This record gives sequence, C-alpha cells and structure tokens, in this order.
Amino acid sequence: MRRKVRVSAPGKIILSGEHAVVYGFPAILAAVDRRLLLSIEKSNRLQVVPAKATDIVKRALGVVGKKFKEEDLEKLKVSLNSQIPIGCGMGSSAAFAVGITAGIFELLDQPKNLAIINECAYEIEKKQHGNPSGGDNTIVTYGGFLWYRKEGEGFKIFEKIKPKSAPTLWLINSGKPQENTGEMVAKVKDFYQQNPARVRSLFFESEKLTRAFLELLQGEKSYSLIDLLKENEAILDSLGVVSPKARRIIQKIEQLGGGAKVSGAGGIKNGSGIILAYHKDADLLPNFAKRSSLEYFKATLGEKGVTEEK
Ligand code: MEV
Repeated sequence: MRRKVRVSAPGKIILSGEHAVVYGFPAILAAVDRRLLLSIEKSNRLQVVPAKATDIVKRALGVVGKKFKEEDLEKLKVSLNSQIPIGCGMGSSAAFAVGITAGIFELLDQPKNLAIINECAYEIEKKQHGNPSGGDNTIVTYGGFLWYRKEGEGFKIFEKIKPKSAPTLWLINSGKPQENTGEMVAKVKDFYQQNPARVRSLFFESEKLTRAFLELLQGEKSYSLIDLLKENEAILDSLGVVSPKARRIIQKIEQLGGGAKVSGAGGIKNGSGIILAYHKDADLLPNFAKRSSLEYFKATLGEKGVTEEK
C-alpha cells in the first residue's frame, strides 16, 4: 500500500437525454472544468475532512473494500475539496464515487483500469441514488464528450465524441434542488407508470434531439443550438423536473434571444440546479446572471476524466 495519493475527478453536464437515459435512450454528456480533489492517506483510524462527508465515505469504502478484501481501508484519512456545486446536477456525487474508487486503486498500487473503476463507482452510485443510468460515473471516469446508452444493467454502450467545435455555454445556478437525484428519478418513474404512452413519446422525442445534438457537435449546420436547447427544455418541463423558479429564469433567457435547459436530474420545489445557457452575444448571459444575483460560470467542456494528481 502507498502512503498517500491525490486524485481529481471532473464535474459533468448533460447536453441532451437526462432521465430518458435511465430507460435505455441515448444521452450526450460532457466533462467540465470544475473538479473534485481527493487526497487519501494511511492513518490509524478513519478520518474524513470535512467530517459531514463521513457517511458517504464509509459507504463508498464498503463497496470498494469488497473488491479487495482490505481491512486497512478502515484506517484512512480522506480529504475532499470540491469546486463542483453539490447536488446541483453537475455530477458531484459521481465525481466523488469515481474519485474515491480511483484513489483507492492508486493507494493499493493496482493497475489503472478505467473500466473496473467505472463499474465500482457505478455500484457506489446505486447505493446513493437507487437506479442511475451509469452515465454520470462514465463521463467522470473517461472525460471528454460521450454518447452513452444503457441497454441493460450489465450492458452499457458509450463512445467518445470528438466535436468539430464545442459550443461556449454558460452555467447558471437556478438554486440547489430540495430533491436528490434518486427522488427525481423516482418521480419520473411514477409519471411513466401513470402515463406510459405520453412519457414514451417524450423519450422518443428526447432521442431525436440527442441525435440532432450529435450532428451539431459533428459540424452539421442544419440545427441551431438555441432551438435544440429550447426543445430539450420543453421535454424536461413536460417530464415534470423543472421548478417554477428555474422555468422563470429560462423563460427570461429565451425572451433575451437565448436558449437554456436544465442539466441533470432537475428539481421541483426550489431550484432545478444548473441551467445550461447559450446566447450568441457573449456578454449578455453573464450580465443577466449578475443582474439577477445568480451564480454563473463559463463552462469549458470536454475536460479530462479522473486523474492522479502528483
Ligand atoms: C442525473 O445526472 C441524470 C439522470 O438521467 C439520472 C441518471 O442518468 O442516472 C436524471
């Protein structure tokens, strides 16, 4: 066992296909330039900094520990330092699951096997969220842009997309959702059970848009980014994952001539987390966010996946 390791894992956004991806429809995800830094070192007991993360660290170590049957995983100091807003749809939990798994692999001097790290992180995510698609942990593991599809529990297909040009998007925080990802996935499931035909047609619509997004990234000019964001948002709103607060922000952006959508699980009672927004006037959205006292930042997409930091 090594004495100390440091790893970092990126946050993520979903350009198209959230929620539908849980049911086997495709999604496009991208890693962003906000990272979680984890340091893991040997200690005489389990210490977690910040202490409020102790439960999730214990749960994750339980999953990774089973892979190695290492009792020493109970005696570690795990420190977390994150630039990813927590619980806002930017993959904070996936970055943690992938980061801690990769960190333990490094600590135990295991060969860096991204497929195994990703699988293990997926198990941690399941403990956290119930029935995730596995898209979040996969983008955080591999980085870049991914086309992702979960065909079944043990069969997930993904492929790197190499965009001709990546759009410059702004991320605007509509507020931390009161509901977590597991609860939002469960709400969509209820809605699906009550209205199977309606929700299936929304998912097929989502797939059409995800394909259009792929073509846009590959340089086809037949689609406008603003229209794709707007249409995507309309599907998420129909699925019931957009809060009134987030809807008002998005409508305002549309009135100003831009396009925006919720990215990730969304939220209903308070905010819906991060909104992806685009306007061809580069200054307009940051000015709007400033005026509206909303947290915002420019997203650099396609960042590297989980990495050891020296
Ligand atoms: C959450 O970031 C994305 C969802 O599609 C859930 C999932 O894919 O597991 C809402």
